[in-house]
Amino acid sequence: MTLALLKETHPHEGRVALAPTHLTSLTRLGLTLRVESGAGLKAGFSDAAYAAAGAHVAASAHEAVKGARIVIRIRPPRVSGAEEEISWLPEGCALITHLSPGSDPGLEEALWERTILPLALERVPRTTRAQRMDVLSSQATVAGYAAVLRAASLLPRFFPMLTTAAGTLPPAKVLVLGAGVAGLQAIATARRLGAAVSGYDVREAAREQIRSLGAQALEESVHAETEGGYARSLSSDEQDRQLSFLASHVKEMDVVITTAQIPGRAAPRLITGDMVESMRPGSVILDLAAETGGNCSVSRPGETILHNEVQVDAPLGLPSSQAEHASLMFGRNVLALLEHIFQGTEAGEPRLDLEDEILGAMAVTRPSPQTKTSQDEEVSNG
Ligand code: NAI
Repeated sequence: MTLALLKETHPHEGRVALAPTHLTSLTRLGLTLRVESGAGLKAGFSDAAYAAAGAHVAASAHEAVKGARIVIRIRPPRVSGAEEEISWLPEGCALITHLSPGSDPGLEEALWERTILPLALERVPRTTRAQRMDVLSSQATVAGYAAVLRAASLLPRFFPMLTTAAGTLPPAKVLVLGAGVAGLQAIATARRLGAAVSGYDVREAAREQIRSLGAQALEESVHAETEGGYARSLSSDEQDRQLSFLASHVKEMDVVITTAQIPGRAAPRLITGDMVESMRPGSVILDLAAETGGNCSVSRPGETILHNEVQVDAPLGLPSSQAEHASLMFGRNVLALLEHIFQGTEAGEPRLDLEDEILGAMAVTRPSPQTKTSQDEEVSNG
């Protein structure tokens, strides 16, 4: 059974969906990997390293996918234009990738037309059983770490307190808004760099986790947790209370890192233009929610701007900045998914059973009015 690993074509993508170290486990499952030449280069993995690990290196994407039952890539294929990438995917294959289901109906339609089964990585259920396959968590960990390094290099001050013959310098004050996977990693990283760190979230469990990392948890009256353990959108009254509470803290900070998200919706606004203007010149806002619109109202996704001498940075695709480790973690997630698909099957035959709770959740199938899933509803409403 052959799998194809394709090179990423998005100009800002440096990761690769499987690394040479993952080949041993694939071989044990009876699988052969065909890798498009250059797929791992930006992440530090040469063609020779894939070949030495037992992969077949193909000169082009077209050659790599020949005979493949499963095609793997981080970003979805392009659906139109001169560099369209769907017409040459093998009919009837499964495509494991990020798809942002519902965001590009043309892409989904084009895949269904070729009887390709899209398995969306962002739909892996957040259950204990599927935790090893959860790319959202692994890549959020990378983003939280990278955000702190980026903020520290933008800030014209040190993070740690320094006592030197040239004077004593106080530590930077860092506030992290949203303490999910990315936020907690940002808190831990900023603490390691010696900053005075506080964190804020609307979930009580997250406040406990902030404290357990040795940071200060900012407390106020808005509690907004769903039964599933995620945050919910706030009412306008709750939003007003939250903004006035945060305004009193943000103005004291050197760095604010924002990571707040509501699954399936635009990112909540936590920082207004007035709050940015209340900060000292040179301070930094690092908006990690840029992919879903941003937590700061003056953020421009993909850009670093100066607003009233405050640096507002809203990077896209941050995990790519740590491409090697991000790829190793991503690949480990993909491998766990492949083990789930192939373990216990005959001679490398995939078990693409859509009744399975993990694969059923990931599969983006052609909707009919009767079969629209709750996830499809959530995304289209979001
Ligand atoms: P996320 O990326 O959806 O959101 C980030 C954070 O923003 C969350 O902590 C959320 O509470 C917070 N937030 C949302 N609106 C906010 C607002 N208005 N003000 C302040 N903060 C706000 O969250 P992520 O990182 O994906 O994880 C969320 C939850 O899922 C956590 O409880 C985590 O432990 C759980 N989880 C469970 C997993 C599993 O069991 N396999 C895997 C990953 C996460």
